[in-house]
Amino acid sequence: MALSAAIVLAAGEGTRMRSNKPKVLHTFAGKTFLNRVMNSVSALNPGTLAVVVHFQAERVSEAARSYDEHVTIVNQDDIPGTGRAVQCAMAQLAAQSELDGPVLIAASDMPLLDSETLRKLVEFHTASGNGATVLTTMLDDPTGYGRIIRDREGNVLRIVEQKDANRSELAVQEVNTSVYVFEASVLVEAIAGLKSNNAQGEFYLTDALETAKSAGKVGAFAAPDPLTVEGVNDRVQLAALSKAYNRRICERWMRDGVTILDPETTWIEDDVEIGRDATILPGSFLQGHTVIGQESTVGPYATLIDATVDDGAVVERSRVQESHIGARTNIGPWTYLRPGNEFGEDAKAGAFVEMKKAHIGNGTKVPHLSYVGDAQLGDHTNVGGGTITANYDGVHKNRTKIGSDCHIGAGNLLVAPVEVGNNVTSGAGSVIRHAVPDDTMVYSENTQHNVEGWKPAWER
Ligand code: UD1
Ligand code: MG
Repeated sequence: MALSAAIVLAAGEGTRMRSNKPKVLHTFAGKTFLNRVMNSVSALNPGTLAVVVHFQAERVSEAARSYDEHVTIVNQDDIPGTGRAVQCAMAQLAAQSELDGPVLIAASDMPLLDSETLRKLVEFHTASGNGATVLTTMLDDPTGYGRIIRDREGNVLRIVEQKDANRSELAVQEVNTSVYVFEASVLVEAIAGLKSNNAQGEFYLTDALETAKSAGKVGAFAAPDPLTVEGVNDRVQLAALSKAYNRRICERWMRDGVTILDPETTWIEDDVEIGRDATILPGSFLQGHTVIGQESTVGPYATLIDATVDDGAVVERSRVQESHIGARTNIGPWTYLRPGNEFGEDAKAGAFVEMKKAHIGNGTKVPHLSYVGDAQLGDHTNVGGGTITANYDGVHKNRTKIGSDCHIGAGNLLVAPVEVGNNVTSGAGSVIRHAVPDDTMVYSENTQHNVEGWKPAWER
């Protein structure tokens, strides 16, 4: 069942999105439509993977190449239509190498198209000895889709587009998903005679199913799961499909032992992993490759992007990006963790604390109103409220090192590069510019002046 080629159709503008960017570059659960479809199609290892581009061709081909540098880019000419897209692709592929065997064609506006469905489609196609097979689904509301027209015996006759359909055809609920398998030789014949005498004046690929009949048997395969083949043409459909998919992801995690208080306001992307007995509270976004440990609590209102949260940790009302939160560590509320933070166990970053590239040891706490950047803090150190590391001298980012068992006073300013040893206590308001050795108390003077009886000018 090896595929000789796969053709992904991505030349359309996606007019109904009313967007400055091509539809296929819109994102669905964190990845572009194009990325998702290429991912599923690639899993079948086609001999050649081609992506057809036209609208904002540069941008789309760049996206396709960054996903797979070996992709064949096909530039569709100015003649519109899905049929024209395949004509252009086949002309280029035939010039490249001889095609023999099944060719998979897929539209790229189906963000949930999965490799399992594609595999079953190709298996069905091969097992039935078909020359062409279309992937179909039944919809309660088929508006906008091409309808599958069958004869009395149930044989597929042709596909009729919404705009070209008569009343009885419009009543058909079995629709074309825009995914097909054709034997290469059948496809070449089927697209040769396409015409554009239809409501949209375009070369329809859907017509190729009817013309394929003279070269081989034509059939249809129903997608086992209708959600996976839903197309997105506008942003209303995008929101509806996102919601349906998210609900499914949340349900999967709940069945796996994760408490999700409100799946309606909890958004979990598909590469996220969550441990048993974790609790996800409303308003939370778990994105990218975020990993949540067992018995941890995330939310309410937490955004986690490529974050790792170990067992028993808490992240409340905070944003955490590319950071590792150790077991039982407490983050938030209102903590902003930029990339590169590494927390030990039982540590804390509290309210209005911002961190970047900070290594925070076991049991170390930064509870209030601090900025800690490019810093390394040992174990069991406490940092007083309002303390900041001045890591940037205008040219370089410099590092601050604070040892273990320290008590850094409130409102300290650590002017990097600077090193503070172990077991150091610093006075409130200290400005620390020079190294502090182990077992030391450090404070810096600031002279207090009291001017008694003073009044502002307007009161004198
Ligand atoms: C298409 C099908 C319809 C099917 C529906 C499923 C045709 C004529 N109609 O309609 O039967 O039910 O998908 O979602 O095929 N594209 C190109 N070049 C073009 C035009 C489109 O590459 O000239 C690409 C688009 O980028 C898109 C795909 O083909 O990925 C489908 O195009 P779209 O305009 O969304 O077609 P539909 O109206 O949805
Ligand atoms: Mg479409």
